[in-house]
Amino acid sequence: MTLPEGNPEMNAREVTGPDEVTWNPEAADGPIASPSFGEVTRQQAKEIIARYPQSRSALLPMLHLVQSVENHVSQDGIRFCAEMLEITTAEVSAVATFYTMYKRNPCGEHLVSVCTNTLCAAMGGDAIYARLQERLGTEGRPLGHEETVGEPGSPGSITLEHAECLAACDLAPVIQVNYEYFDNQSVESAEELVDALRRGEKPHPTRGAPLTDLRTVELELAGFHPDLAAVAEGPSIAVETVRGAVLADERGWAAPARPAEHPALPPLPEKK
Ligand code: FES
Repeated sequence: MTLPEGNPEMNAREVTGPDEVTWNPEAADGPIASPSFGEVTRQQAKEIIARYPQSRSALLPMLHLVQSVENHVSQDGIRFCAEMLEITTAEVSAVATFYTMYKRNPCGEHLVSVCTNTLCAAMGGDAIYARLQERLGTEGRPLGHEETVGEPGSPGSITLEHAECLAACDLAPVIQVNYEYFDNQSVESAEELVDALRRGEKPHPTRGAPLTDLRTVELELAGFHPDLAAVAEGPSIAVETVRGAVLADERGWAAPARPAEHPALPPLPEKK
């Protein structure tokens, strides 16, 4: 794979990435060997499927359920989804390999996502990612994209990734830990954050729910909230995000009234 110049992966002394060689996107049909997909998980899968008129529509939350038990989407996880949804393993693989939230290798207790999209990169996101690669690397080798430091799933283990826009550009540069926001980061604050995670601490995100771990969040993404009140607690609004609305309110500004009728659209140019 050739990476475009300027991609943060190029900042690493050694270009690394997920081990795509050992992960076969075409899981063979066959029995599910992993004990992870026992009766509890099957019951949860049935609950997910029951939410949809057509069972195949449940695939995305089903893949999150798989990640909640295995910390990634394994070959058995693909077979499990295919069996429960009565679709082919190829159809499951096609979806699992399309979305970056579905991981091919076992992840750490925490997933640290550093936004390196345009605005965050310009505000320091590239420097943060490069420093975290160094900080979390071992024996002089920087940690690569979607690589894990520590035994996957063990306390204090971290999977690092660079991410596309995390929809918080007004708070750039931002980091997410298990998809919870840490806004207005610097190289120093990012280092302190991952050091705390490595020590087994759970720093409170800038806004949103208290920090848990990736597998708990995956279960929530599958639609299971054992303690919904705790998930919903915490500030969800950033001062910067609503500043325009507050200013408009203070100054009495309002959007112009909508016309009673939609204005006519200009004619489409003729196709040549
Ligand atoms: S560019 Fe980083 S949140 Fe949008």
